[in-house]
Amino acid sequence: MSIFHPSENISTPYYQYDLALLRQTLQHASESAAVHGYKIHYAMKANNNPAITDTIRDYGLGADCVSGNEVAEALRQGFPAREIVYAGVGKSDKEIELALREDILCLNCESLEELQVTEEIARGMQKIAPVAIRVNPGVAANTHRYITTGLEENKFGVHLSQLREVLDFASESPWLQLMGLHFHIGSQITSLQPFEMLTTKVNDLWQTMNMDERGATLLNLGGGLGVDYDNPEGNSLPPFAEYFDVFARHLQVPGHVKVRFELGRSIVAQCGKLITKVLYTKKGVNRSFVIADAGMNELMRPALYQSRHHITNLTSTKAPQIYDVVGPVCESSDVFATHIELPQTGRGDLLAIHSCGAYSESMMLLYNMRDRAGVVLVNENSHGHMADEAYMSTVLSKGNEIS
Ligand code: LLP
Repeated sequence: MSIFHPSENISTPYYQYDLALLRQTLQHASESAAVHGYKIHYAMKANNNPAITDTIRDYGLGADCVSGNEVAEALRQGFPAREIVYAGVGKSDKEIELALREDILCLNCESLEELQVTEEIARGMQKIAPVAIRVNPGVAANTHRYITTGLEENKFGVHLSQLREVLDFASESPWLQLMGLHFHIGSQITSLQPFEMLTTKVNDLWQTMNMDERGATLLNLGGGLGVDYDNPEGNSLPPFAEYFDVFARHLQVPGHVKVRFELGRSIVAQCGKLITKVLYTKKGVNRSFVIADAGMNELMRPALYQSRHHITNLTSTKAPQIYDVVGPVCESSDVFATHIELPQTGRGDLLAIHSCGAYSESMMLLYNMRDRAGVVLVNENSHGHMADEAYMSTVLSKGNEIS
């Protein structure tokens, strides 16, 4: 194993994005979708760093946004307005106005009241609002309870019992254009079975809700495809071909209906690592702690969802020992891993926390008045080592300098 030599002038912690892996992932995802004529919108919430989104836009993906600021940022980053969709249970009037003013492809509406407000705003602007109805299909995604969205108790989407009334309102309003249906059942879904169940629901609803008669031409199936957090290096490409095949095999909607997806995590998770330096090690009663200079500020997922990310020591090849890896934040939940094996680790060692391309930088916190982490871009070769140190470039992360 080769030892990683970081550039002297990069302070930790920082996010390291491998653009070569991102491109490889995008190539695989786009090809797998194109076989079936499907279009992918990238879920901006997963990571909106311009270095990442620039690459994604170059592959022709659209954008999926969940706030007015994300819509504005997608436009600023060059995503065409007609390739932007916008979902959210709580869109403000100002956000709806922005979406209509910019002529985005579609607003995914989540309640009758939201549709009524959208109609009112559209009338005021003398514009017809393109809307899809987000349906809560009652499909269990078998994922963490905080990231499942398609169950009856979740706040998302229109419940099946109200769907006809909501669709009738959209179909009949002169200020709304009903584009179609939108679904998103949850995130980090690692079995394809929930997606198959979703298609059964979609087929049924498209028929029973008379979507063809209503002139609907859009079917947005959301995101949710999971990644391998346990073995990110051995399994860096998500199973896009198998995922899209499930829909192609089971969906029964007319050929002219445009089928779209909103993938976030599966596109970007594996291209990112959080690089952190070990500040201290210390012995607890029955455990040894590694105290890193990254914390829940830079990676909130373990504290919020008890999620686990694979961790490697980039600078030690000593005999393995068992550690808890924790951050510096004044919260007991600021723990990245418990009881994991790492080569004997000491002050100054560099650790890589893997699969941090998605929902890490975009969920960054400033709690404890900590500095913002920087970003480093690399192109790694197929063995995972740096191909060319000279290629390595630093970018400013949200206006903060890397010293
Ligand atoms: N579409 C909608 C309407 C969504 O709400 C989401 C994610 C996506 C698409 C993209 O889903 P993906 O392909 O990334 O699974 N912070 C959590 C994940 C929250 C996901 C929120 N919605 C985490 O770190 O696991």
